Amino acid sequence: MSEQAETAVEENPRMALLGERAKVLQPLMNSVQKSNGLLGPYDVADHLQARIEELDLADSIAHFEAHGYAAIPDVAPPEEMDELREAIHGLSGEITVGNPTRGASYLLGRHPAIDRIATNPKILAFAEVSVGNGLRASQFAASIMGKVEKPFAGGIHADQNWLPAPFPEHNCVITFCIPCDGMTDEEGATRVVPGSHLKRRHPTPEEAKSETVPIEVEKGGVAVWDGSVWHGTGWRRVDGVRTVLHATYQRLYTQPIDDYTYLLKDEDYMASAPEAMRGLLGERLFFGTAHAGSMVDMGKFTEATIRSKL
Ligand SMILES: [Fe+2]
Repeated sequence: MSEQAETAVEENPRMALLGERAKVLQPLMNSVQKSNGLLGPYDVADHLQARIEELDLADSIAHFEAHGYAAIPDVAPPEEMDELREAIHGLSGEITVGNPTRGASYLLGRHPAIDRIATNPKILAFAEVSVGNGLRASQFAASIMGKVEKPFAGGIHADQNWLPAPFPEHNCVITFCIPCDGMTDEEGATRVVPGSHLKRRHPTPEEAKSETVPIEVEKGGVAVWDGSVWHGTGWRRVDGVRTVLHATYQRLYTQPIDDYTYLLKDEDYMASAPEAMRGLLGERLFFGTAHAGSMVDMGKFTEATIRSKL
């Protein structure tokens, strides 16, 4: 640790509260000081500048800021993408008749190849610029898309679906779409409405039919989009499958400070608690409801998308 950092720890009595963690956090404290605690959306924090340059992410970040999405090249070597595809296929169910897409959910901790890409340095540095230093793993799910005769109708949305509009200028949710073999337009690349993130709101039903462009990615690269940008699924017109990991991260402040979830498991307490307490404790929230056999509780997810807009 630098002499300057040592001094800062001694001079700031609040740092004493951090104990041993103060040394680890000092570079971040310096970074906060540098921006006066006013780091703007898309600004790169001081402690992160060198890493962004080293990882050659500046161009992708500039494109992301202007258009709401980007294709990041050379995120992982081809052999890591091959292992990821194997892992996803091993964890996914079979394609059923009439359903050309299959997938898997709740994937962290279930295969080393998935954990490795989830903690990939380029992905984490990019995510930090967008959703902040205290980012959390939000959702990790995979999809295997086969050829379909016609595109899926509608479905254009912003991923910050549980935030009211106007969305905060600071992005809260970022999604990385990791295609194990790359993805071209005809191979089913995810589609976006460029620049729609600047509206900072959900699309109207009419806007949900907007013109879209594919995010084409070469093998080893990753597509990424802002939580505010309007996007929808791609349309695979060729044989074979598109195997993708959808990795989502979110901003720290979207979590409560106190964790009272233990109360929800206390039957005696819940039996006599005021009815409104159930909402305050998040009984109807969809977070954490996915398990190895299914995606999140869609009833709870839908309820949250309604309540969050009122
Ligand atoms: Fe989405």
